[in-house]
Amino acid sequence: MSPVLDAVSVIAAKRDGCELTDEQITWIVDRYTRADGVAEEQMSALLMAIYLRGMTDREIVTWTQSMIDSGTRMDFGELRRDGRPLTTVDKHSTGGVGDKITLPLAPLVASFGVAVPQLSGRGLGHTGGTLDKLESIPGWRADLTTAQLYSQLESVGAVVCAAGADLAPADRKLYALRDVTGTVESIPLIAASIMSKKIAEGTGALVLDVKTGSGAFLSSPDDARRLAKTMVSLGTAAGVRTTALLTDMSTPLGLTAGNAVEVAESLEVLSGGGPADVVELTLALAREMLDAAGLPDADPAAHLANGRAMDTWRAMIAAQGGDPDAPLPVAPHIEVVRAPTSGVLRSLDAMAVGVAAWRLGAGRAVPGAGVQSEAGVVLHAKPGDTVTAGAPLYSLHTRTPGAIGGAVAALDGAAVISPPGSATEDDSRPLTGPLVLDRVTV
Ligand code: URA
Repeated sequence: MSPVLDAVSVIAAKRDGCELTDEQITWIVDRYTRADGVAEEQMSALLMAIYLRGMTDREIVTWTQSMIDSGTRMDFGELRRDGRPLTTVDKHSTGGVGDKITLPLAPLVASFGVAVPQLSGRGLGHTGGTLDKLESIPGWRADLTTAQLYSQLESVGAVVCAAGADLAPADRKLYALRDVTGTVESIPLIAASIMSKKIAEGTGALVLDVKTGSGAFLSSPDDARRLAKTMVSLGTAAGVRTTALLTDMSTPLGLTAGNAVEVAESLEVLSGGGPADVVELTLALAREMLDAAGLPDADPAAHLANGRAMDTWRAMIAAQGGDPDAPLPVAPHIEVVRAPTSGVLRSLDAMAVGVAAWRLGAGRAVPGAGVQSEAGVVLHAKPGDTVTAGAPLYSLHTRTPGAIGGAVAALDGAAVISPPGSATEDDSRPLTGPLVLDRVTV
């Protein structure tokens, strides 16, 4: 006979450092999701106890499974093109400043005949949301029915859309609660949150881009590596072929952070150009995904150069109501911030740029709020570049000029410029390290 369970004893067990049983975890996640006998304050206390005490591998597996079981699990097994089954590969990034990689990556991988379902959420805080970026394209819509999602995967191959309400609904409630209880930065809870959605989505393979550095959720490389290992183990145990790249997020990716400005930069990459770091990460992740799809010899750089990836992008945007030829919105107010001194730009803090973009209107402070498509930061220099006093360092784009002061304040001290020939301590710091720091497998 199963024991009688109650929320207080589950909280107390975790508070006292005990390992929770499978029954306790399954019961509390289920009852909390259904608002049946577990109050918000009780789950808040449990989340804080988990944050402080951690979870064992078995607890994480059970917590993840309970979140998957809170909703429906999709199945892409029936997808066909020309009568043949389609392989599905997804990518998930833990979020970074200027991280627009999904935009060129999904159509690039799909241009090789692989199905890429990218079910995304909306941005909160300093990292932008992929859906918010794509919504700056006139007509494009994020909400698809499951039937539309399947049909687009079969016809175009690439889909970026909003996750349905029934995909791990426990995570939606738990994530909102973690956001207001200071319990987001917990490796077991982040791993379970991300992997419950990815496993429930039904992808055959998954490539994770786990960020480390000032603009990442977990700034320490050791924490990011532990998160990557935990997620790779969860995916593999669930039968999803999972690998992770550990990548640097100490400086923004590319030269843009915001919405329409990031779409414009992604189009440069799809046209065979674009900033070197965006191209490098797009290709590194594409190779991982193509390898996972059984195409280890595919050459993604060729499909950026010959327009195949761009063709798939255009089909993907049009299939979701967007006009790939429509001009992107442009901000009515653009404020240029200039370099205070001449020298070499040694570092440019990702978090500061993310906060500036958010304050300009590119991101939201509370779930459900609107964002400005035009808002964002355009960088005129990257670490390693030589800058001249008075030359533009950043352009701040917004619809609301009152937001500019806050963005300028966020950027105060973000750029470290060492004068030419100076022998300051800064000169001994590396200008730029490798972008891809490690590859994590089981
Ligand atoms: N992204 C998620 O989906 N969940 C987390 O907990 C953190 C980042």
